[in-house]
Order: sequence, then structure tokens, then C-alpha cells
Amino acid sequence: MKRVLLVINAMSEDPSGDELDVLVQAGAVENALTKLGHSHLRSYCSLNLEKVKEVIRAESPDLVFNLVETVDGKGSLIHLLPSLLEALGLPFTGSGSYPLILTTDKVRTKRILSEHLVPTPEWILPGSDPGPDPEKRYILKPTWEDGSAGINDDSIVQGSTFDFKGFCRDKKFNEYFLEEYIDGREFNITMLAGPKGPEVMPVAEMQFVDYPEQKPRILNYASKWDSDSFEYEKTVRTFQLKKEDSELVVQMKGISLKCWELFQLRGYARVDFRVDPLNRPFVLEINANPCISPDAGFVAACAEGGVDYNTMIERILMDTN
Ligand SMILES: Nc1ncnc2c1ncn2[C@@H]1O[C@H](COP(=O)(O)OP(=O)(O)O)[C@@H](O)[C@H]1O
Ligand SMILES: [Mg+2]
Repeated sequence: MKRVLLVINAMSEDPSGDELDVLVQAGAVENALTKLGHSHLRSYCSLNLEKVKEVIRAESPDLVFNLVETVDGKGSLIHLLPSLLEALGLPFTGSGSYPLILTTDKVRTKRILSEHLVPTPEWILPGSDPGPDPEKRYILKPTWEDGSAGINDDSIVQGSTFDFKGFCRDKKFNEYFLEEYIDGREFNITMLAGPKGPEVMPVAEMQFVDYPEQKPRILNYASKWDSDSFEYEKTVRTFQLKKEDSELVVQMKGISLKCWELFQLRGYARVDFRVDPLNRPFVLEINANPCISPDAGFVAACAEGGVDYNTMIERILMDTN
């Protein structure tokens, strides 16, 4: 039996659906910890790290289950708790501070991927020269967000009509980038730590059902968080891939394991891919410590691979930093 301190982010005053999701995750993890025979206590992480230190001093847990997704509302501060725990020498679940800060910064992730010849769509930052190619389509993405925050159908822009000067000048775009739009299929690759290193779970494809011709086939904010929306209903996960996809699947699995190595991920991670019309996979992003709500894609892939929720948690607990 272990004494587990579960830490989540302190909620803002008016939390949005994606922020509240961490409470769902916390409840599910606590339930699993109880079933696995571990004792647990919930605590919160804000900019006041002294408070976390006090709880640790008072409770002396064996390890921390880290469910912190933002600190002070910012994804860019996600490494703070792991940094503190590393300094204290207290084991914790999921990836360490360095992999977390690298993978939360989508642009930095893409730079590292490119340096290691891992395919990721071309990107353009404010001030880049040359600017967008008039012939190409792009998606305008926030650098530090996740859960499709800041991504809607208007985020898809054409190079020829996009106001690149405004994008370069307007401070609100400081932390945005343009990424070449990959018009094609979308896949998620789930990796869970195991006794012999990371194990890749069955590959999920996200399908866009009954999408009108002109509507961008993307997982926008509504598709993830607005249960009344068309997008929420019509984006469907499937594990039933065709035989002719087997080579693509092998490629994506290999690339995902390379990402795990490259970024020194721990415990659990998910890599998001798009595949172009020539059947070439491109990494969109690496999700270290992905969402583990019972209805999350990560959990569905584990279930498809024969790993139930409690076993999944046990495996995450076994690969602490
Ligand atoms: N370059 C791209 N080409 C096509 N679709 C994209 C691209 N980048 C993002 N998307 C769409 O936007 C969604 C969210 O983007 P992603 O980079 O995974 O960020 P998030 O962290 O918000 O999940 C993707 O699941 C995909 O549907
Ligand atoms: Mg994603």
C-alpha cells in the first residue's frame, strides 16, 4: 500500500468545461487508487508552491499523482510542480519537468522533431520570412494551449488571403503560429508504461461523419467540450482500421516510440497525427500526461488493448520519476 498525494490545479473563479475536466480525472484516479489498496489525499497547486511543500511535510506521501494541467491558468507553468518535486526528491507520476515544458510548447516540440527528422507540418511564426505560401492552407494555433482551446473553423486560413502583416504586428498573436493544414485523416497513438518500457495501445482514428464539404475536418473546441454541438456528435473514434492501413500504423507507432525516447516521456503519453493524401503521417503534437478521464481517448485505447482503468493507473504508478 502506498500513500499517494494527488495534486490538481487550483480552479479559476469561473472554470470552463476543459478546466473542470481535471476534477473528473481526479475522481476517477482516486477511485482506482482506493480499489488498488492505496491511501490518497487530494491537494491543489497554484503559484504558491510553499503550500504544496507544507502538505508534503505534513503528510509525507510516498509519491505524488500529478494531474496539474495549468498553473495560474497558464499551460506554460505546467513544469512548476514537477520541478519542485524533483528538487525535493519525491517520486511523482507522468513526465518530468523538462519533457513537460518542451512538449507543452508546440513550436519548440516541432523544432526538436524536425531536428531529429520526425515529420511535422511546416510552420510559420510572426515575423517569419518568407511568410505564408499563397497556394497553401494553414491552421492558426496557440503555442501553449491544449484541448483545442483557441481552435475553431475560422482557424483554417488560406495563405493568399491571410493578413500576415496584422499577424506579425498584433501582440495578441505573439503566442500563436501558423501550421500547414494537413488535409487528411487523423489518428491518436496511445503509449502506456509497462514492465518492458512503453507499450503502444491500439491505434485510434478520429472520423468526421456527415461533415459538409466546406466544413473543416478538424477537432475544434466544440468537438471536445460542447456536448450539444454538431462537431461533438459527429467526430467519432474508431479502432477498426483497414488492412491497407497496416503499414501506416507501423510507421505511426515507430514515430511515437521515437518521440517517447526523444522527449524522455514517462508513464503515459499520446501523440496526435494527421496523414496527408500521399499517406504520409505528420506529428501535430505530443501530449505528455494526457487526459485520463474515463471517457478520454487515452482510456478508450487502453481498454481496446485489454488494459482496464485500474491496471492503467497501476502502470502509471510504476513508472514514476
Ligand atoms: N496542421 C494541421 N492540419 C490539420 N488539422 C490540424 C492541424 N493542426 C491541428 N489540427 C486540428 O486541430 C486539432 C487540435 O490541434 P492539436 O495540435 O492536436 O492541439 P491540441 O493540443 O489543442 O489538441 C487536431 O486534433 C486537428 O483536428
Ligand atoms: Mg491534440
